[in-house]
Amino acid sequence: MRLSEARRDLYRRLAREQGYKSRAAFKLIEANERYDIIRPGFRVVDLGAAPGGWMQVASQLVGPAGVVVGVDVSPIRLKEKNVVSIKMDVHDRAVAEKVLQAVGGRADVILSDLAPTVTGVWELDQTRQVDLTLRAMELARVLLKEEGAVFCKLFEGERSQEVRDAFRLTFRSVRVVKPAASRNASSELYYYCEGLKPEPAGGG
Ligand SMILES: C[S@@+](CC[C@H](N)C(=O)[O-])C[C@H]1O[C@@H](n2cnc3c(N)ncnc32)[C@H](O)[C@@H]1O
Repeated sequence: MRLSEARRDLYRRLAREQGYKSRAAFKLIEANERYDIIRPGFRVVDLGAAPGGWMQVASQLVGPAGVVVGVDVSPIRLKEKNVVSIKMDVHDRAVAEKVLQAVGGRADVILSDLAPTVTGVWELDQTRQVDLTLRAMELARVLLKEEGAVFCKLFEGERSQEVRDAFRLTFRSVRVVKPAASRNASSELYYYCEGLKPEPAGGG
């Protein structure tokens, strides 16, 4: 067994033991320990949230005074009281309004673990994932409060620079994160973007 497979198995087992819906939960736990991304009372939006591991982590971190709203094309079934699940495509034109209603205003943090069903053809998978991340950034403009933050996935490849440019145009600080729970072999990285800048005059 390769080291990356052993690591994946370890996090899968830990997730099962600790009641998390996915091993992805540990990526957010690790990033949060390092950067204090999610705090008590925060309003959090999670894009591409099924089966709900990140929502469970965020729910614990925001506590009873906060709320976590998850969006996915797949259903999310969670028991936590401070979570709302929306079954919808992030490209749906009605998604922003639905989320704002559920959050009760603009969010403090947006999480995006959006990923397409992988085909194994890396160029295709990467370009699809990049489009999803760019959509998350577009949504951040309408869902996130000024100075808010985004923690999101990005598949590394030919189009990564395009996305990093979009991050830097939109946020004051951009940091790259590679959590231990993210498979070594995989070319996924996470970005923690802080301090949403005000919209440029003219909306562009
Ligand atoms: C890696 S999984 C997310 C795992 C999640 N963070 C967790 O902790 O359980 C990526 C998710 O993105 C969702 N997704 C992909 N394209 C989407 C789209 N256009 N709209 C909404 N969700 C999408 C998939 O259905 C999948 O559930």
